[in-house]
Order: sequence, then structure tokens, then C-alpha cells
Amino acid sequence: MNFLHFTGTGKKNDAPIAVFDSGVGGISVLRALIAEMPGEHYWYYGDSANAPYGTKCSEEVRELTTVHVDRFIAEGAKAVVVACNTATSAAVRLLRQKYPNVPIIGIEPAVKPAALSGNHPNVIVMATPMTIREQKFHNLMERYMNTAHIIPLPCPGLMEYIEHGDIHSVELEQFLERLFEPFDKGRLNAVVLGCTHYPFVERELRRVLGNGVQLFEGGPGTARETKRRLMEKGLLREEGKRGEVLFDNSEGSEEKRRLCGKLLRM
Ligand code: DGL
Repeated sequence: MNFLHFTGTGKKNDAPIAVFDSGVGGISVLRALIAEMPGEHYWYYGDSANAPYGTKCSEEVRELTTVHVDRFIAEGAKAVVVACNTATSAAVRLLRQKYPNVPIIGIEPAVKPAALSGNHPNVIVMATPMTIREQKFHNLMERYMNTAHIIPLPCPGLMEYIEHGDIHSVELEQFLERLFEPFDKGRLNAVVLGCTHYPFVERELRRVLGNGVQLFEGGPGTARETKRRLMEKGLLREEGKRGEVLFDNSEGSEEKRRLCGKLLRM
């Protein structure tokens, strides 16, 4: 990676923010980051060749994530956003210990705003099996146990639709219908999209859940937190500068690059 193709690089503030996910899902976070900080440079890296992460064991996800983050930092990224709930729960704590001087921002399912969205609401948290298994998620659920009725819903197989560019099809709709079949949708108040791939199927989810259910995603909160951390360290770019986005993917196909661009423009 050569950051010279990001204009204005040389000063630390002009270095890119690395945004990382197991695939294309983190683009939902990238979208929020650009809305919050349009003048920054972003190096988006998706590890699609090793996806999905959510059905692997935490040791493997921790190893993969660490290898990528080591590279981002060695190549000069000024901050790292782990735009993947699964990788965050497996690796972020250790990465912060390893790199105490680099802002490393993770993402977690937006349980808090969903739990506070009504009077003891019924909340379903969609996430990968690994995110739901991890202690980090159990702690989060426990914190809001008295505020809301929270039901974790592991969704193995869902990220693959988005990863293959299928965000609108009969098969996808049937998959989502089967997923929510055991629940009484009339009594459901909120659904948390606890995997960064899921916001891309929001339209299909709406079709299955109806309009009475509020949807929550973690991207905007993560973007605000990233801005706060960069500000704190004096690492934001000067206002008025133009930011650039570079898509990088372990799968390296032209098709994947095109899908990244399409998802960002959505
Ligand atoms: N996008 C990832 C997340 O936020 C997970 C997808 C996967 O299973 O790799 O959890």
C-alpha cells in the first residue's frame, strides 16, 4: 500500500483512517464515517477471502484481525475502525493494549438506543453466532436486562447474501421470513442490526417486519466516537479538504470492487 495516492499525505493528520471488516459489510459504517467526516481519507479493507468471520471460533478471528490491523498501522494509518461486530468482540481489547497510542475504534450492537426506545420494549438483536456467544455481548445484554426484553437472534448464512451482492431477491426475503417465523411481529418493537452487513438489507427486512418495528444500527454511533477520538488526539484533517476512499479487498476481484462502490452509493 502506498498512501501517496491519497492527496496531501505527508503529515500525520493527512494519513488515512483504516476501516476494516470481514467483507463488504463495514461499508455501512464507512458511509456513516464519511457523513460525519467528509474531509478524511479512508482505506477500506474487506477480508472477503476469509469471510464469514461470524461462524469461526474467536481465536481464528482474533488472529486474522490482528494480522490486518498490524499491517494498517505499519503502513501509516492514523486510526483504525474495526467496522465488524464479530472482529470487535474477538480482538479490540487486545489490539488497544498492543497499540496504546493509536485510536482503535470498534463497533457493538446498538442495544442501548433500542432498549431505551420505549417502555420495556421487545427487542431482537440480529448478529453473527460468534458475536452472540462472546462475553462482551452477554455483558451488554445484562446492562439493559431491566430496561427491555432482549432476544438474541444468531443469523448464520445472512451475511453471504450481501457479500454476493444479493440485497434484493425472493430467496433473501424467504430467508428473512424463516428467520422471524418464530416471533409474533405484532408484539415486536425494535430490531438491532448487530452485524455491519445487515443495514444493506434494511428494505427487505422492512418488508418482512412491517413499519411498526424500529431498526437500529451501530454505524452512526461508531462514526461519532471516531470523530471524538481523533479530535482528542488532534488528528483530524483541516476543514475544507477533500477526502478520498480507497477500496482494498483480500479477494481482489473487479466484481468485489464494483460491489463496494455500489454499496457505498446506496
Ligand atoms: N460484518 C460482520 C459483523 O459486523 C460479520 C460478518 C461475518 O460473519 O463475517 O459482525
